[in-house]
Amino acid sequence: MPSKPDKLTAVPERIEADLTELSRIRDPDSNGWTRTVFSEPYQASRAWMRTRMTNAGLDVHPDSAGNLVGVLPGRNPAARPLVTGSHTDTVRGGGRFDGIVGVLGALEVVRQLIENDIQLERDLLVIDFLGEESNGFGLSCLGSRALAGELSAADLDRKDHRGTRLGDRYADFGLDPSDVLAACSGWATARRPHRYVELHIEQGPLLEERNVPIGVVTAIAGIERMLATFTGRPDHAGTMPMADRRDALVAAAEAVLTVRQQGCDAPVHGVATTSRLVSEPGSPNVVPGVVRMQAEMRSVDPGWLSAAQLRLAEEIKLKAEACGVGVDIEWSTDNECRPASPAVHETISSTADAMGIAWEPVPSGATHDAVHIARLCPMGMIFVPSRGGRSHCPEEWSDLNHIATGIQLLGRTLVELDGAP
Ligand code: GLV
Ligand code: MN
Ligand code: MN
Repeated sequence: MPSKPDKLTAVPERIEADLTELSRIRDPDSNGWTRTVFSEPYQASRAWMRTRMTNAGLDVHPDSAGNLVGVLPGRNPAARPLVTGSHTDTVRGGGRFDGIVGVLGALEVVRQLIENDIQLERDLLVIDFLGEESNGFGLSCLGSRALAGELSAADLDRKDHRGTRLGDRYADFGLDPSDVLAACSGWATARRPHRYVELHIEQGPLLEERNVPIGVVTAIAGIERMLATFTGRPDHAGTMPMADRRDALVAAAEAVLTVRQQGCDAPVHGVATTSRLVSEPGSPNVVPGVVRMQAEMRSVDPGWLSAAQLRLAEEIKLKAEACGVGVDIEWSTDNECRPASPAVHETISSTADAMGIAWEPVPSGATHDAVHIARLCPMGMIFVPSRGGRSHCPEEWSDLNHIATGIQLLGRTLVELDGAP
């Protein structure tokens, strides 16, 4: 057992400097702090991150799935490693904290361990996972998904709106697509991780409302995505009488409200969002003939989620029929609901108690790399408050003192887990 875990005190100025420097590497032509996966700014940020990891004292080994893996050697190289990390890509128009706090926070833990002469028994791996945010290919968590064996050859054939294949995008980024698929039988299989803990901003309002600095995640919501195609009939917008129209966009508008209502009726954590409607032909003088609609539902209650899917599909069809419009609905599961490991949850919460830090159990409505790494080993997550519950927007903000508390708890938790059998 390391002798001086009490000395792990995060240095706020260092964290602030890292956050500020990384935030400068962004797409100048996009709103907010944009650094989407595979983009030029992302490429540049990864070079920056690699240097930062090395400077913090890690041996950095990019893996075949595009993850940056930094190793802090422990006393026993044969022991299963501890893993922490998160992501540094952002959504378009996103913020400066989502994912980034987990990677930069892990680097601060590494610096604290080294400065206090604490060597863990196990290697500590700090990972900046490739592309966590859902991208133009409709797939989130590229790096962690690949490690968990949840990326398929069919996924590599997904196309973005320009018709580019995901596999080709990997190749342009300097990664061999077949190596990406094989990543699940690489280091993560050879070195089965011991435990995974991820520090992240909450991205919702609960912690701020309850005035507590730390959330310990109970479960990460499952996500079901829907693509609905409404087929009506294009007609002259000036001449076709209202009663005789088969307007696909009117049917889709009913569906948007139906999606919203499912979320409003959820008994526990459940949300439903329509994010995109594309109407054809899109001329001001033509009644819309075809509309494509993208929506998703999330919940930490898998029973509610599957029942809500059925109710939603049924109601959308009925309301479309009433408009004389046909509808075809396709579902895809982005990820299933993933409860945190009770043992890791217990270690995080008892460590917080021992440090005198107030905490609350919270569900995660956002998805995380932890969902996929949970296939490899027991997983837990630590949340820090988000101002006003805002995230995925330029105003996203978490206070430095909360981030520092989260980093201290992450460090002490990793030390505790290092000793766990
Ligand atoms: C990622 O942030 C997600 O929850 O979609
Ligand atoms: Mn995130
Ligand atoms: Mn995000």
